[in-house]
Amino acid sequence: MVDSKEIMEKDKEYLAAVYQRKPVVLEKGKDAVLWDLDGTRYIDCISGISVVNAGHAPDRIVNAGVEQMKKLIHCSGLYFSVPQTLLAEKLAEISPAHLRKSFFCNSGAEAVEGAVKLAKKYIVSQGRTGFNLIALEGSFHGRLGLSLTLTGQSKYKRGFGSFAVYPGIVHAPPPYCYRCRLQYPDCGLECARRIEDIIKYNTTGDVAAMVVEPIMGEGGIIVPPDGYHEKVLEICRDHDMLYIADEVQTGFGRCGTMFAHAQWDIEADIMSMAKALGAGMPIGGVIYREKIVECLKPGDHFSTFGGNPVCCAMALENIKYLQEEGLIENSRKLGAEFMKALDELKDDHEIVGDVRGLGLMIGIELVKDRKTLEPAVQTTQEASKKLMKKGILIGTGGMEKNVLRIQPPLCITPDQKDEVLSSLEDALKALR
Ligand SMILES: Cc1ncc(COP(=O)(O)O)c(C=O)c1O
Repeated sequence: MVDSKEIMEKDKEYLAAVYQRKPVVLEKGKDAVLWDLDGTRYIDCISGISVVNAGHAPDRIVNAGVEQMKKLIHCSGLYFSVPQTLLAEKLAEISPAHLRKSFFCNSGAEAVEGAVKLAKKYIVSQGRTGFNLIALEGSFHGRLGLSLTLTGQSKYKRGFGSFAVYPGIVHAPPPYCYRCRLQYPDCGLECARRIEDIIKYNTTGDVAAMVVEPIMGEGGIIVPPDGYHEKVLEICRDHDMLYIADEVQTGFGRCGTMFAHAQWDIEADIMSMAKALGAGMPIGGVIYREKIVECLKPGDHFSTFGGNPVCCAMALENIKYLQEEGLIENSRKLGAEFMKALDELKDDHEIVGDVRGLGLMIGIELVKDRKTLEPAVQTTQEASKKLMKKGILIGTGGMEKNVLRIQPPLCITPDQKDEVLSSLEDALKALR
C-alpha cells in the first residue's frame, strides 16, 4: 500500500515539475465529493477545472465507457465508428442550429487550434490572406504554439523564446468592468469599440477571426456586460471576420445553459469545446457552420486519437445525463443561490471586492483595498489553503491570481452548497 507522502516524493522525483500541486493525493470521487488516499473527504468546488460537470463517476457514464471498451477501444480516423458519428449528431442537436459539422480532438488547446486552422482555410479559400487573428487580453486558450499566442496573459509565455509569438495575433481589451476606469453603461461599450481601432492600427486589415470566451475563465470569471458580445459580433460582421466562441470552459451546462454564448443574441461561426464534453475523458471538439468546412479536403486536418470510441461513447452518455438528470437547471438554480449568498458575504467582508458569475461558474475577487483595488494575491492563496483544511477544494485564478473560483460539479446539492458557503465565511473571517 502506497501512502500520500511516498506518492508526493516519487512525483517530485519522476515528474517534470510543471504543475503546482496542492498537497492532496486524490483517490476516488462520487458526484460532488472526493476522497484522498488517507480517507479525508472533500467537497469538490473546481471539478477538475470545469471538467466533471456531471459529477465524479456517474454509473451511467462509467458503464457506457466500460461497454465500449469491451467492444473497441481505438480505431483511428481511418474508419467509421458508431460512437463518433452519434456524438457528432448529438452535438448538432444541442448546439445553435446553424452549427452542424464537428471535428474531434483530444484537448481544449487542440480544439482552439482546430477552430482557427479551419477558419483560416475558409478565409483563404475566399481569396483573402486572413493574416490576423484577434483575441482578448486576459484570455486563456491553451498552451500550444498558436493557442498560447492567442492567450492574452504574458505570465504563461515568458521564457519560451518565440514559441508563443505566432504571427498576426493581436489582442483587444477585455470586458472587465470591475477594473475599468469607465462606467457601464455610460462607457458605450468602449472595450468592444476599441476592436475597431485595433483592426485599423494593429492589423493588415484582413482579420480571419476573433476568438472569444463567452465568460473568461482562467482570466478570473469575467462576465461581459449586456450588449458586449452583440457589439463584438457586429464588428466581426462589418470586417468579414469569423466569430469563434471558445466554450472549452463554459460549455456543457457550466453557466446554466448547454453552451454559454447561447445566452446572448449572437451566432458564433465556430465553437470550440473540450473539458466537460467527455466527463473526465480526454476529448475536445469543434463545431462549424457548414459553409466553413466545405473548403476542406481529406487530410487537411487529422488526429490519431481524435474521436476515440471510448471517449465518444462516454461523451454521448454524458450529454444525455446532463439533460435527463436536470443538471443544467441545477446549475442555474444553485448558481443563483450561491450568487445571492456571496453578494451578502461581500457586505460583511471588505476583502471581497467583486462577486460575479453565471450558473455554477462563479468568481470572488479579493482586494486589499476597495478603492485602489490592489489585488490580495497572498490572501487568495491562504483562503484556498484554509478551505482545503476544512474539506473544500476550491480553484484560484485571475490575471493577478486573486480570484477564488467556485465551479463545482453541477450535481452539487443544496446542503453541500451551504457547507461550502459556511466554510468560506469562516475562512474569510479567519483572514481578516
Ligand atoms: C477557454 C479555454 N480554452 C482552452 C483551454 C485549454 O484547454 P486544455 O488545457 O484542455 O488544452 C482552456 C483551459 O483551461 C480554457 O479555459
